[in-house]
Amino acid sequence: MKVECLEINGGNRLKGEVAIGGAKNAALPILAACILCEEDVVLRNVPDLRDVRSMLKLLARLGVKHEQLEEGVFRLRVEDEMNCHAEYELVSQMRASVCVMGPLIAKRKRAQVAMPGGCAIGDRPVNLHIEGLEALGVESDLVNGDMMLKCKKLRGAEMFLGGSYGSSVTATANVMMAAVLAEGRTVIESAACEPEIVDLGDFLNTCGANISGHGTPRMTIEGVTSLKGGEHTVVADRIEAGTYMIAAAITNGELTLPGARVEHMIAVVDRLRRIGVNVERGEKGIVVSSSRRLEPRDITTQPYPGFPTDLQAQTTALLCLADGNSVVTDKVFPDRFMHIAELKRMGANIRREGSTIVIHGVKRLVGAPVMASDLRASAGLILAGLIAKGTTRVRRVYHLDRGYERMEEKLRAVGGDIQRLSDG
Ligand code: UD1
Repeated sequence: MKVECLEINGGNRLKGEVAIGGAKNAALPILAACILCEEDVVLRNVPDLRDVRSMLKLLARLGVKHEQLEEGVFRLRVEDEMNCHAEYELVSQMRASVCVMGPLIAKRKRAQVAMPGGCAIGDRPVNLHIEGLEALGVESDLVNGDMMLKCKKLRGAEMFLGGSYGSSVTATANVMMAAVLAEGRTVIESAACEPEIVDLGDFLNTCGANISGHGTPRMTIEGVTSLKGGEHTVVADRIEAGTYMIAAAITNGELTLPGARVEHMIAVVDRLRRIGVNVERGEKGIVVSSSRRLEPRDITTQPYPGFPTDLQAQTTALLCLADGNSVVTDKVFPDRFMHIAELKRMGANIRREGSTIVIHGVKRLVGAPVMASDLRASAGLILAGLIAKGTTRVRRVYHLDRGYERMEEKLRAVGGDIQRLSDG
């Protein structure tokens, strides 16, 4: 792998348009769901991301072939159902690989999926995925770090899928993808309500599934005997949109975001407005601008429709420059604070107490070499770099490429002074 970094000279106001792409977190489970389909699937608005390429590679090993028809458009078809093993080599690179578990067990009646282990944002258990699948009649066994799943027949069931930190997005995805081919009705209580789950449900229904209530905490799935194929356009990425909203705010700039879906971002819009950022619906999309001082605010991340944990690092960077003290609590991933030490290298004043940080606003941030620890933390550091005085180098930028499509190009096009360099 090429080792690259991003170099940013801070201080430019961003102004212009940034088109928002398809959501990574919708595209990945929808791609995995192709395992279930008997006929061709055509997916549009698929973002060009490292995680998407990893999922396509995993699917190819599992016998699902793909063909790119044009930019962002893929045709997929199952050609071979023999291999049911998602190996550690791929799963360790991308946790969302676990999304093949539900489709494999439902369609092929067996699955061997390496357990992903922890990552920079904390312990990432899969107990809810397994409990949900077991409720449908799956037998599981952990052998050598791989979860071995088998079943004779899946039967619909009523289940509670809430965990210590609320609902789980990918556990809900796995259970719904298995339940579509189970015999009878499945009811998931405490289902995740994220727009990406709604998008997955819509895709599965297009292919012939019978899912209702997706987008609410109680989802009902009437099993069907098979899924055909279908065409689907992946929903816009609300986390990418939120990141560029914060980029506009932190640089006192003005960005229009064609493609962004404001109805999926009510909590984010509310918090940003309270911080003093202007957010309007324009003809072409959300328009975000800021020219005022930033107010300190308290923010708590929660499952949807709450404020997303995937925007916590970026919002923390913004609040570093607020006029006073802010409190940020991550209730979804209580250890997701690796970016704090790096922001401090740039002059931020932050204190952590468990799953909460207290941010004392400072007048300015200063450029520094910093290390990205995970995908969203990288984005937070880049946003800080855009406003910091001097030069910031964000290292380990491969994290960013997992989930942001051409971020430096998009930022450069609206006035950001940012380039990719080889780092090594
Ligand atoms: C998904 C998103 C990720 C986002 C996260 C929370 C994808 C591909 N990734 O990750 O970008 O940050 O939702 O919005 O969609 N938990 C358990 N047991 C489980 C599963 C999860 O206790 O079996 C806990 C987790 O540790 C965490 C919380 O539940 O504290 C929410 O995690 P979850 O929604 O599962 O995150 P992911 O689906 O992995």
